[in-house]
Amino acid sequence: MASELRLGVNVDHVATIRNARGGGLPDPVRAAKAAAAAGADSIVAHLREDRRHISDDDLIRLLDAIEIPLTLEMAATDEMLGIALRHAPHAVCIVPERREEQTTEGGLDVVSGHNHLKRFVDDLGERGAIVSMFIEPDRAQLDASRSIGAPAVEIHVGAYCDALIDGKEYEADCLLDRIVDAAEYGTKIGLKMHAGHGITFDTVGPVAAIPQIEELNIGHFLIGEAIFDGLHSSIKRMRGLMDKARSNAIDEAIV
Ligand code: PXP
Repeated sequence: MASELRLGVNVDHVATIRNARGGGLPDPVRAAKAAAAAGADSIVAHLREDRRHISDDDLIRLLDAIEIPLTLEMAATDEMLGIALRHAPHAVCIVPERREEQTTEGGLDVVSGHNHLKRFVDDLGERGAIVSMFIEPDRAQLDASRSIGAPAVEIHVGAYCDALIDGKEYEADCLLDRIVDAAEYGTKIGLKMHAGHGITFDTVGPVAAIPQIEELNIGHFLIGEAIFDGLHSSIKRMRGLMDKARSNAIDEAIV
């Protein structure tokens, strides 16, 4: 059981708010520094093809300014590969991307994209990045990720979080079972397990309690919550909930 559970804070939506007005405020770099001070283990930024939030300049400034690791989320395109190879972030999470979507909808199809995606794992891995595939909790996608040599995957937990928030308990239970199965199976075949998307204070506990998961990546909810309670306090509370769920799970496993 991984006793340590890392928190990656995604600062994309600080840039979304900034871009609503143009200009430089609020600055995602300032948010990243505040997140680090509040206990984030890493910062996550998604450089989208349409640059709707994080910009190329943000990426450069983040890499320059923060002292904790940066995970770059990106689509599997030649343009993004070039950028990632140039800037060499600590980690890269490959995500599916469609221009018309509001956020990353669903996971990557590694099974069909096998040949195309392998080059990203190889080239970025050689550059020293920990490369993960953002996938649905599905054994075929886990097998495909392993077979292209990805060291890690991030499980898309958005559908589970949405079902729980909407009070669809049976659906949420079934989805959580799939996430648990994916975490167990993925670890067995040698993948590092991360999870993210749609996590809130109300949904973090059951995901954080899954012992194989080593990292949670959380963005939209924390940035929204910061409006009411401040970024520092929101991150601290999330961290506390994660740590409590994990330590309770460890205690239960020992009994
Ligand atoms: N992980 C990945 C791969 C994502 O694409 C996103 C959204 O950018 C997140 C985590 C964070 O999701 P949310 O903003 O819903 O917390």
